[in-house]
This record gives sequence, C-alpha cells and structure tokens, in this order.
Amino acid sequence: MSKALDGVRILDFTHVQSGPTCTQLLAWFGADVIKVERAGAGDITREQLRDIPDVDSLYFTMLNHNKRSVTIDTKNPEGKLVLEALIQKCDVLVENFAPGALDRMGFTWERIQELNPRMIVASVKGFGPGPYEDCKVYENVAQCAGGAASTTGFDDGPPVVTGAQIGDSGTGLHLALGIVTALYQRTQTGRGQKVLAAMQDGVLNLCRVKLRDQQRLERTGTMKEYPQYPNGTFGEAVPRAGNASGGGQPGWILKCKGWETDPNAYIYFITQAPVWAKICNVIGKEEWATDPNYATPAARLPHLKDIFAEIERWTMTKTKFEAMQILNKYDIPCGPILSMKEIAEEPSLRKTGTIVEVDHPTRGKYLTVGNPIKLSDSPTEVKRSPLLGEHTDEVMAELGYSPEQINALRTAGAI
Ligand code: COA
Repeated sequence: MSKALDGVRILDFTHVQSGPTCTQLLAWFGADVIKVERAGAGDITREQLRDIPDVDSLYFTMLNHNKRSVTIDTKNPEGKLVLEALIQKCDVLVENFAPGALDRMGFTWERIQELNPRMIVASVKGFGPGPYEDCKVYENVAQCAGGAASTTGFDDGPPVVTGAQIGDSGTGLHLALGIVTALYQRTQTGRGQKVLAAMQDGVLNLCRVKLRDQQRLERTGTMKEYPQYPNGTFGEAVPRAGNASGGGQPGWILKCKGWETDPNAYIYFITQAPVWAKICNVIGKEEWATDPNYATPAARLPHLKDIFAEIERWTMTKTKFEAMQILNKYDIPCGPILSMKEIAEEPSLRKTGTIVEVDHPTRGKYLTVGNPIKLSDSPTEVKRSPLLGEHTDEVMAELGYSPEQINALRTAGAI
C-alpha cells in the first residue's frame, strides 16, 4: 500500500529528542529519512540512559524508527562533498543543532539554496529571534520559558515541569506540520523555504489557555474556576491551578479505593454541567440537584472544594476502574490516572498500534509508542531504528559512489 509521503526524501540532521520526533513522524508517513550522524559517535542519545551495555538506548531506539543511518564527518572537506550530494538529492533538511552550527559547517541557507533551490530547511531552535536566540535549550528550559512551569503545580509550591515532553516532542510535532505545509506550498511555487519551530513558541502555543487567563485576570481580578477562588488571593500573574480543569467545566483529581498504597489509585472527575443531576444521584446527594446553592454552575463555583470532597467520599469506595464503569454509564466525564505499567499492558493500545513491540538485532524486543496519528490510506508500520552507519554504503551507492570511492572516503575518515 502506498504511503502519504512516498517519494519525499529527508536529510535528517537531527539529534536528541525534538528533531528526531519530527523526522520519525515523517518516516511513519512514508518519507525516506536519511539520518546523518557523526562518524564513530552518532546521536548522543544512542549512549544516554542505557539499560543494556553497548546497545543503543531506548531513548534512541524509541525516537528513530523507520530511518536509515549514514555516518559522515561534515567538517571533513570530502565529507562536505558527500553532504552536498545529499542536499541535491533530498527535499527537506531537518536540523536541531545549536544556533549557528549549520552555518559554521558551511551550510548557510544561501549555500543550500545554491545547491538545491527546492530544498526546505526546517529547524528547531530553543528561542526565536530575540534576546535568547543564541541559547542552547533542552526540554525543561522550554517548559519554563514557554509558560508551562509557572502555571503548573500547586499554589503553595514551586513551579513544576510536566512529564509530557511538550518542549521537545511538542515542538517536533509543530515542525512536522510546518514541513508538510512547506512541501504543499512548493507544489505551487517550486521553491523551498525555511521552517522554524522555536521550543518556547511551541510550549506557549500549548499554554494558549493560560494567556487567555492572564487577560481575564487583568480585566476582572479573579477567576472563579481556579482553586484560589473564593478564599485565596490572586496576584498579577496567572497562578498555578493544581489539578483544576483548564476549561469551563470544573474538574479535580480524586482518591479511589487503594490510594493509601497505590500512588495511582486516583480518578479525574469533571462536574460537567449537563450531567449535574446524575452526579448528585450517583454520589447520593440528590438534594443538590435542586438546592439553589448547588443547582447551577455559577452557584457551585464558591463550593467546589466541598463538592469535590463529597464526590471523593464516593470515589474512595470504588477502584478507579469501578468508578469509571459506573460514571460512564451516566455519561459523566472522568478518566483513570493510568500508570505507565498499566498503559504498557493495555490490550486496546496494542491493537491500534499505539503501543508496539519492536524487535531489534542487538537489544531484542522492546515496547515503543507507535504513530499516534492514524491515516486510513497510509498505515504505519513501525520498523526498528538503524544501527550507527548501517546504511552508509547503501545511501552512498544511491548517490552514485562506487565501492572503491566509498572505501577511499572511509579511509580518509570522511564517512
Ligand atoms: N560531523 C561533524 N560534526 C558534526 C556532525 C557531523 N556529522 N554533526 C554535528 N556536528 C557538530 C556540529 O557542527 C556542531 O559543532 P560546532 O559547535 O563546532 O559548530 C556540533 O556537532 C553540534 O553541536 P550542538 O548542536 O551544539 O550540540 P550540543 O550537544 O552541544 O547541544 C542542544 C545540544 C540540544 C542543546 C543543541 O543542539 C540545541 O540547543 N539545539 C536546538 C534546540 C533543541 O533542539 N533542543 C532540544 C533537544 S531535544
């Protein structure tokens, strides 16, 4: 079966997490992704957080499926020529080096355009143009600079970063969208263009609702769905909202049966307005459905703490899965707090290909997250990540190099 991005060739100059997330998605959609790595060393994540000695780490294998790996020393003059040949053959160059690294290598936008005017050059950087544009950035820096950390956690505690890699994987996703959009525009213009996804911008985009709240706070001095209301105080900036729901339907995380020993025996419970009467019935507080102090969303806002405490008295009598089953019967929105262990073992996620078992020649079998985006005409087949330089000869031959030339370049340390 054909794939959505069949025929698209990606020169993948990415490393660590943000860039590899992007090119892995493009590979899953059918692009031929040629990952260029430093000879002898490769992407630094190959050796980071290793669980098996001398074997590519899960960090690397889980971010580099369906790619080919070639090793080129791009600072070697002959290596540069190989890279030039690749630039001429590919549609997109994706990179997430520190600012200026590609220029220092001699591959400025102008030079790349000379070599291939159709080339799309896509970059992840920590920051866009401005005071921090030259900074190196990792995930948590982006979470802090993009507004996520100041709005995450509890009011009486410090800022908190989230486990979701919104700075790295989040920005990789943004970049992938920029790339396919630029590819589409190229079908009309015939020209390449630069695509930039800054991690601060990507995180801020995902924190859009918090900038909404900043302006609401400035206008009205309060936000009634925040746990600070009605007894706490609001300062000048959006406060941390604990587990309050980001939208207009109040929610909170509540204990379930077993919480004393199981750190994940919790459920997220949303007191959605249309099902309020059903919630009252389920928890045995039928009178709240008609009591003017509780009957409307506005009347409930000053009592949210008490309301959730009462609901929790009920959820603590059920496991999170029992509570889910009962609440779902009444269309009451809720969600179990699932541990990574539970997710890894969930059969439905295996069935859809969201969790996939992959076999690797040196690692053996491991679990990975498959393509979260499902296309009906372009199914994803998750293939293992490449070993370092596994495809150097194959790709060099496709570029027109003879076995003798390949050997000579290898002897010269260019590949
Ligand atoms: N052959 C020869 N040299 C190579 C090479 C190759 N195949 N591939 C990379 N290099 C060199 C580069 O030319 C550069 O050298 P230079 O500093 O002399 O110009 C160097 O390796 C790459 O460096 P850099 O990107 O600075 O790596 P780092 O490990 O010091 O920093 C980051 C890592 C992630 C902090 C940095 O790359 C960065 O800020 N990237 C942008 C933001 C980002 O994506 N962050 C999230 C990462 S998940």
